Amino acid sequence: MTRRAIYPGSFDPVTCGHLDIVERASRMFDEVVVAILVNPNKTSMFTIDERIETIREVINSRLEKFSAKIVVDTFGGLLAEYATQQQAQAVVRGIRAISDYDYEQQLALMNRRLAPTVETVFLLSAQEYSFLSSRLVKEVFTYGGNIDGLVPSLVIERMSEKLAKGAK
Ligand SMILES: Nc1ncnc2c1ncn2[C@@H]1O[C@H](COP(=O)(O)OP(=O)(O)OP(=O)(O)O)[C@@H](O)[C@H]1O
Ligand SMILES: [Mg+2]
Repeated sequence: MTRRAIYPGSFDPVTCGHLDIVERASRMFDEVVVAILVNPNKTSMFTIDERIETIREVINSRLEKFSAKIVVDTFGGLLAEYATQQQAQAVVRGIRAISDYDYEQQLALMNRRLAPTVETVFLLSAQEYSFLSSRLVKEVFTYGGNIDGLVPSLVIERMSEKLAKGAK
């Protein structure tokens, strides 16, 4: 049986913290589905298609060793429903600090109620990325701060293009 895990998130944009979790999950499961949540009510920097393309490219270059077992997909609505439909054994979530815990516990327990056989697996972030979020990356980059090493260089390129367009 294929052991499949879903790693859901916005990935707007994907960071080195996300990639670290994908890599850890890839060592544990036969297949890891990076599942981008489609949320029309949330304003984002990148479109869903741009995020899919960037994540795929970055996985192929930075996680080449695991790329055969990593799938990139999108989903809307309930995560529990999507995980069941994907016949996943687990949902993977990253924990950066205690501040992530409250919300993650709520989410995990609600998902357990909705899909009792899908287990939530928490993976502790790498220490060097424990302060890192997409929101912070966007904020710092918008004001000209250096984000080298926190996101793949492709993401920096894509963000520069976005800002250049926005400035016109
Ligand atoms: N630096 C990181 N290290 C480990 N896990 C992370 C890191 N950043 C995000 N995650 C985890 O990845 C999953 C998806 O998170 P999400 O898409 O919200 O990313 P985010 O960086 O927190 O973005 P945002 O700032 O928009 O909330 C969550 O489980 C989150 O805890
Ligand atoms: Mg978040």
